Amino acid sequence: MPNSYFSKDKVIHSPDFTPFTVSWKSPSNIALVKYWGKHGRQLPTNPSISFTLSEAHTTIEMSCELKDDSENQPSLNFFFEGEKKPNFEKRIQSFLNSVSDIFPFLRQLQLNIHSSNSFPHSSGIASSASSMSALALALCDAEKNLFGEDERSSFFQKVSYVSRLASGSACRSVYPVAALWGFSRELNSSSDEYAVPVLDHLHPVFHNFKDTILVLSDQAKAVSSSAGHSLMEVHPFAKTRFELANKNLAQLLPALKKGDLETMGKIVENEALMLHALMLTSNPNYILFEPATIAVIKKVRAFRADTGIPVWFTLDAGPNVHLLYPSEEALKVDSFIEDQLLPHCIPGKSIFDSCGQGPEKLNS
Ligand code: PMV
Repeated sequence: MPNSYFSKDKVIHSPDFTPFTVSWKSPSNIALVKYWGKHGRQLPTNPSISFTLSEAHTTIEMSCELKDDSENQPSLNFFFEGEKKPNFEKRIQSFLNSVSDIFPFLRQLQLNIHSSNSFPHSSGIASSASSMSALALALCDAEKNLFGEDERSSFFQKVSYVSRLASGSACRSVYPVAALWGFSRELNSSSDEYAVPVLDHLHPVFHNFKDTILVLSDQAKAVSSSAGHSLMEVHPFAKTRFELANKNLAQLLPALKKGDLETMGKIVENEALMLHALMLTSNPNYILFEPATIAVIKKVRAFRADTGIPVWFTLDAGPNVHLLYPSEEALKVDSFIEDQLLPHCIPGKSIFDSCGQGPEKLNS
């Protein structure tokens, strides 16, 4: 119920205020059907679905004190892995300003945020999903601390809504195992405004599905996601892309329900390559994979053909490869990865991850 998220009444009555701290851990996610293209206030042009990860996560600690200046915006000190990061701080400050219609009490607060990632900095692993969902968790938890539980909305739905405003894909990180974001006729509860949980629609084989993230390059992104999304506004293939994303989702959902790995794998690989095909054919265009990306994909396909083991790749908008496979096959796939794929990777940066249980509140 997004309308109920906005409230002018949520202001702090100073004599009642006691400083407090909230802490959360929130995971990254990997999209199976990709979100690529947006409109309005961060609304998606097609529905997407992702696995929630476990090992790749952000931890956030946010302390809240009453501030003494009369400036009408939240006051922020932001530290990433113990260091002041002016660029991150600027981005978060402008996000906080933009959500003060949802959290008016922020204007009265001095926030000190300490954030860190479980994965190495500059590893080419997208961190916005974990970091922005962690921030949204901290904000919604602070609101809950100050004003109590809002019975009109579920906590995680609101967290997902707020995460979306910070970074679209972040809204899918807040549920265990898998989440769907964007309205789809295939799922009545779906919405463009927030992600919904889809654990009940999954065959148990996916509950602990593996996602090994092979870090092939640690270069900064050639194009920001925002710039990438905006290329879709004038992309010659946009209409077809949005139709195909809906079609892929419609075929993927029953495959996820049945545990049909073959259909799932075909759709997931098609989505990854389509995302890159869109970047290759946009104006300006971008080549976001590296020779090692293609080498790894070819080896994965050959391994699958030779052994019959179901292991599939997907890609984000970058060169790194995610390998998806059932945990029952982990022994064989992990030794294939170690022997044949890790030599293509940046040493020490790859992550053997799997579907996880979603965010976790930490003791402050
Ligand atoms: O959340 P953003 O704006 O960083 O967009 C991310 C888009 C992809 O990662 C490429 C695909 C997805 O659905 O996660």
